[in-house]
Amino acid sequence: MSVVITGATGHLGRLVVEDLLAGGLPADQITATGRDTAKLADLSGRGVSTARADFEDPASLKAAFQGADTVLLVSGSEVGKRVDQHRNAVQAAKDAGVGHIVYTSLLNAAESTLVLAPEHKATEEIIRASGLPHTLLRNGWYSENYEQQLQQARETGTVLTSAGAGRVASASRPDYAAAAAAVLRDPAAHAGAVHELSGDTAWTFDELAAAMGRVLGREVVVDNVTPEEHQAVLTGAGLDEGTARFVVGLDAGTREGELSSTTGELSRLIGRPTTPLVETLGALV
Ligand SMILES: NC(=O)c1ccc[n+]([C@@H]2O[C@H](COP(=O)([O-])OP(=O)(O)OC[C@H]3O[C@@H](n4cnc5c(N)ncnc54)[C@H](OP(=O)(O)O)[C@@H]3O)[C@@H](O)[C@H]2O)c1
Repeated sequence: MSVVITGATGHLGRLVVEDLLAGGLPADQITATGRDTAKLADLSGRGVSTARADFEDPASLKAAFQGADTVLLVSGSEVGKRVDQHRNAVQAAKDAGVGHIVYTSLLNAAESTLVLAPEHKATEEIIRASGLPHTLLRNGWYSENYEQQLQQARETGTVLTSAGAGRVASASRPDYAAAAAAVLRDPAAHAGAVHELSGDTAWTFDELAAAMGRVLGREVVVDNVTPEEHQAVLTGAGLDEGTARFVVGLDAGTREGELSSTTGELSRLIGRPTTPLVETLGALV
């Protein structure tokens, strides 16, 4: 069995490689890829194959994917460019004779109003149209996404949000990585599957503040503002208009419950409960 992982220079891809190795998959059956292979040197030293694969360079993708049984396409991080980039990756997988493609999508990607959803939905459609056997891992929110707010809470004792009473069923990156690794170990068992993955518990921002308070050892309260006020505070703090709109847009989706579904599929796939929010925050302090 040979597995190629894109985005292995990033957090999630790296964790998937580590999970596969820890689970006993021989290192020479894994190819870790990224734009900058220097970041993969330590994995290479442990016997993992490494290759340059840039979503903007189809030839690099085809060469990296050649002969692979399975490719894990970790969604790229350049929001706005990803449909074309992912199309390049899917075409390369087809051209390279890959047997199965696994894609890290977004929770409820087909219906979600979250600002991030359209690129994931479009990528899913490209994968379906390719005719390749595939599995969609619709990842919910990472608990680690709150690292910056945690640092702000440490300094100010507040968590700024316009997410209102919206709930977030977040899980840790290692949880999502473990799910991807489980699928990669037996892709045929997940052919055609759409896994809606999220944490076991959907928390409110009051609960987020309480969890931050616990790990920081200080009182933390929520500063729940309107979207207009949120935009003004963010731009006033130096964020450009577009980035501020994006952040406020994410909170709008959160307020509407787009990150709140608790399907239980993630804990079922990894065979254990998902990591509690407070545990992930505690590791970030
Ligand atoms: N569900 C969530 O809460 C959530 C949160 C954040 C991100 N995400 C999504 O999940 C993905 C993985 O998360 P993460 O935490 O591992 O993100 P990350 O640490 O930013 O890693 C992103 C990976 O994508 C690679 N990449 C970006 N552009 C590329 C290109 N043009 N060609 C090839 N590779 C490219 C990066 O390579 P370089 O090392 O060269 O930059 C990196 O390896 C993200 O990319 C994003 O799509 C989801």
